[in-house]
Amino acid sequence: MSQQEQWKSKIGFVLAAAGSAIGLGAIWKFPYVAGTGGGGAFFLIFLVFTLVLGMPLLLGEFMIGRMGQSDPIQTYSKLASNPKWNFIGKIGVFTSFVLLSFYSVVGGWIILYIIKILSGGLAGLSQDQYGQLFGEIISEPYSTILAQLAFMLITIFVVAQGVQKGIELASKVMMPALLILFIALVIRSLSLDGAMEGVKFLLVPDFSKLTSESILFALGQAFFTLSLGVSVMLTYASYLPKTQNLPQSGISIIILNVVIALLAGLAIFPGVFSFGLEPNAGPVLIFSVLPAVFSQMPFGMLFFLAFLILFLFAALTSAFSMIEIIVAAVTKNDVSKRKKTTWIIGILIFIVGIPSCLSYGLLSDAKLFDKTIFDLMDYAVSNILMPLGALLISIFVSRKIPKAELFAELKKGSNVGYAFFSICYFSLKYIVPIAIIVVFIDAAGVSDW
Ligand code: PFF
Repeated sequence: MSQQEQWKSKIGFVLAAAGSAIGLGAIWKFPYVAGTGGGGAFFLIFLVFTLVLGMPLLLGEFMIGRMGQSDPIQTYSKLASNPKWNFIGKIGVFTSFVLLSFYSVVGGWIILYIIKILSGGLAGLSQDQYGQLFGEIISEPYSTILAQLAFMLITIFVVAQGVQKGIELASKVMMPALLILFIALVIRSLSLDGAMEGVKFLLVPDFSKLTSESILFALGQAFFTLSLGVSVMLTYASYLPKTQNLPQSGISIIILNVVIALLAGLAIFPGVFSFGLEPNAGPVLIFSVLPAVFSQMPFGMLFFLAFLILFLFAALTSAFSMIEIIVAAVTKNDVSKRKKTTWIIGILIFIVGIPSCLSYGLLSDAKLFDKTIFDLMDYAVSNILMPLGALLISIFVSRKIPKAELFAELKKGSNVGYAFFSICYFSLKYIVPIAIIVVFIDAAGVSDW
């Protein structure tokens, strides 16, 4: 049995887990799903799901991860004393693989934007031209595939270094910088003409705009942004010493994540309304609105460049966690196999991701259930596999592990009260499974699946 790797510092773990959480989900996806799903009402539901379902699940993954001190597959069989249960970990590893295959495509787009700015091709266009440019950039087959490869190579390189030197160090620098730049960006957006319309859209709920499908999306989004249901948080917690305060870490991660999603919304929607755009423009939203917002300010392109670099970092720190759990599962935490395994898995993920990459260009007509390959992968991961994983984990934690053992684990490193624990436990046992099943059934009835 090999020695489990460990985080070097308490804050290092929090930032790495926050780094996993904060990524394309909060910055790119949240604004556009909120835009399509009804703005304020969507945000409110997302917030409720995050607190009522997300927090207990996050702590659930933390507890069993640290308890098991093992990889995402063996943890389940070890804790249940029954190898049958490790299918939950296997589903998580599979989900993570599929997820990274299309996540890296968007990571590649960010790299292409960075190159575009550096070559001077992004300054001084009109808002429409930015939208058009986005369409052109993502439909070009060779450059998008190369950029996706570049994104995967960075991910592989960092994760091959191991937990402390790679993931922890990178997250410690990137996360604080991202927060500061975002605040600057929001200040700029809020000073645009008509900015208040955008703020209202995001913060004032109009429940008539909610549909069953948008509720499913809010659920998927809450799990997606917190990296839940995949055993990523479980794996990160398996590298923890017993002195880490789990509730405090979990709450910090949730707050950071919601703050970033809120800042992303506040950066985007004022621009959307100020330029007279549609909030439901979809994936193009951030890539067409932000350059327009930036281009109207002094040194705008320089700021946009800084933003893109941090955006890339945010995406990378999430990508690290996705590949990390696969590596942990395959190597069974044997450090000597880490480098080679990371390379092999990373390259495989890249290859599997190529059709998703092409689905905005060459393969744009290849559709199933009226969805492109990219959308299909995203839908399967965000709205099916992740909620399913979350459902299974909630059942496992609350029904397979004795309640007293869970509480004892949560108390290590913290003086958390029994009341707080009981609320989380109750949610894991009843509210999380019921909510997921209800939302599933409801959405199955209305969607075209
Ligand atoms: N939380 C990441 C984001 O919001 O971009 C995505 C993610 C990472 C989801 C890791 C799931 C996961 F296991």
